[in-house]
Order: sequence, then structure tokens, then C-alpha cells
Amino acid sequence: MIAITGAGGKTGRALVRALAQRNAPTRGVVRSAAGGAPLRMLGAADVAIADFADAARLAEAFAGADAIYHICPNMHPDEVAIARTVLAAARRAGVPRFVYHSVLHPQVEAMPHHWLKLRVEELLFTAGVAYTILQPSAYMQNLLAYLPAICAEGIYRVPYAGHTRLGMVDLDDVAAVAARILTEPGHAGATYELANDEAFTQDEVAQMLADVLGRSVRFEVLDRREWASAAQAGGLPAYAVATLARMFEYYEAHGFWGNGTVLTALLGRQPTTLQAWLRRQHGLCA
Ligand SMILES: NC(=O)c1ccc[n+]([C@@H]2O[C@H](COP(=O)([O-])OP(=O)(O)OC[C@H]3O[C@@H](n4cnc5c(N)ncnc54)[C@H](OP(=O)(O)O)[C@@H]3O)[C@@H](O)[C@H]2O)c1
Repeated sequence: MIAITGAGGKTGRALVRALAQRNAPTRGVVRSAAGGAPLRMLGAADVAIADFADAARLAEAFAGADAIYHICPNMHPDEVAIARTVLAAARRAGVPRFVYHSVLHPQVEAMPHHWLKLRVEELLFTAGVAYTILQPSAYMQNLLAYLPAICAEGIYRVPYAGHTRLGMVDLDDVAAVAARILTEPGHAGATYELANDEAFTQDEVAQMLADVLGRSVRFEVLDRREWASAAQAGGLPAYAVATLARMFEYYEAHGFWGNGTVLTALLGRQPTTLQAWLRRQHGLCA
């Protein structure tokens, strides 16, 4: 049994699906009962309810698990404290394996959520568990957030400049690798960067969208202050708004991409290209 924390998010759902394809039983750990049914629909064998603040409930949720896949909520200021609690619960439940969903280049202090993930990685070295760390690049699936403007106005509008070079990875490739690692031996003590060999400027992404959709799509920069006001008005917590803004600044200044060698080896095939992923999203604007 593989227990997955943060299982109700997009990463957790992709992992539940990937493990179900391998017939590996999963227990989705969610914070409220409402999160259970969707995970069962995706193939989760079991669901447990536990908040990250509740070590005792977490330990109960982990009982009998062979491994834990820990996913912290995105842009969470308490990522290190949450990891400490989850690790303590894992020890209490006697779970022998721990896989941590980190991020590509956690060493970047200018992006606070990356820096917190590096601190969690550091914790794992001394936690006394057989750990594996996965460091995925930004997901292609993030592009779906920009679809309304692309479809309604023919504008690909993001809060960084057109020259910003990003290498994105298909979340389903990441989930397939995570599922493999969780269901075979030989990965204890490993840290794997999960990136794609390609990287595109945002001008190029707009062109690719136009090609796939068969319609004109132009790139436009969304002013970051305008983005922040809209995000805050939409209910995004202040820490997440500030952290995302710093990530956008970093992306614009330096780009963000990695190398596909490790992902290719672990997938046993070439990673999904951005063009193939876009083509797979049938009826993007339907
Ligand atoms: N997006 C990317 O491109 C990318 C790339 C690399 C790494 N990552 C990392 O991937 C991780 C997962 O991101 P995601 O977007 O899949 O996850 P997410 O949706 O932000 O969060 C996952 C789940 O955590 C749950 N949660 C929140 N607070 C909780 C609490 N106090 N106790 C228990 N559960 C709680 C949420 O439950 P509710 O559904 O009830 O709110 C949610 O379903 C993040 O750490 C992110 O940094 C993301």
C-alpha cells in the first residue's frame, strides 16, 4: 500500500491514476471527507482523512503502508514544518520508504518555495528513512490556467516577458516515473531531476498554440502588479501571491529549464514534447 499525502491536488490525482495503471494499491490522504470520492474514482483503493497539522491522524493514515509519497500543497509557507510532522508520523507508523515531491533547482534562494523544498531535502538526509527525492520542472498542465484568454481573445497572456525560456514537463510523465519508483527497489538515496530536453520562449509557445489551434494566438505580457491584484482578489493567500511573483521575476531574468537524460532513462522512452502534449488536449477551446 502506498500512502499519498496532498493526494487531492493535480499531482496527487495524476499519481493515483499512474499507480492504478500498475495495479499498485494506494491510500489517498486528504484533509476532508469530500476529497475521498474523486480519488476512489481515479483508482485509489483506500482514502484516509488527516490534516497536515495532526501528527496522530497522519500516523493512523500511514498505518500498514509500504511507502509514503509526500506532496506538500503548492506555495505553502509551512512546507518545512509540514515535512517534519509527516516524517515523524511516518516513523511512528513504521513506514520504511519515503518519496518526496520536490522541484527542479530547489537551490534557488530567490524562489522561496524552492528554498523551502531544499530545506526539506536536507531533513531527509538525517531522518533515518530510505528516501527518494523527485525534482520535477514546471508542468505543461500549468498552461491550462491561461486557456480562457487564449480561447476567448486569441491572446497568450502570462506575467513574464516573451523572451522567457521555460522547459516544461508533462505531469503524467512525472507521475509515471513516481509510480515506477514506488513499485520497484533500487531508488533509496536517489535524487532525480525530472526535466525535458526542450525549452521554449513564450513567443514560441504562443506560435505553437496558434499552430495546434489553427487560429491566431499572440503573446502579451500581463503586468505583474495587475496579476497580483487579480490573484489576491480571487482569494490566493498573500504568501502564495508574493512567492509566485518572485518566481515569475526569476523566470523572466534567468529562464527555467533542465536536462531530460534522467527522465528519459526512468520513463524508458522520450519525454512527452510540448507540441505532443498540446495536440493531446483535444478541443482545447471547445
Ligand atoms: N505546478 C508545477 O508546475 C509544479 C512543478 C514542480 C513541483 N510542484 C510541486 O508540486 C506540489 C503539489 O502541487 P499541486 O498543485 O499538485 O498541489 P495542491 O493542489 O496545491 O495541494 C495538494 C493538496 O493539499 C491539500 N492540503 C492543503 N492544505 C492541507 C492541510 N492543511 N492538510 C492536508 N491537506 C492539505 C489540498 O487539499 P484541498 O483539496 O482540500 O484544498 C490539496 O488537495 C507542490 O509542492 C508544488 O510546489 C509543482
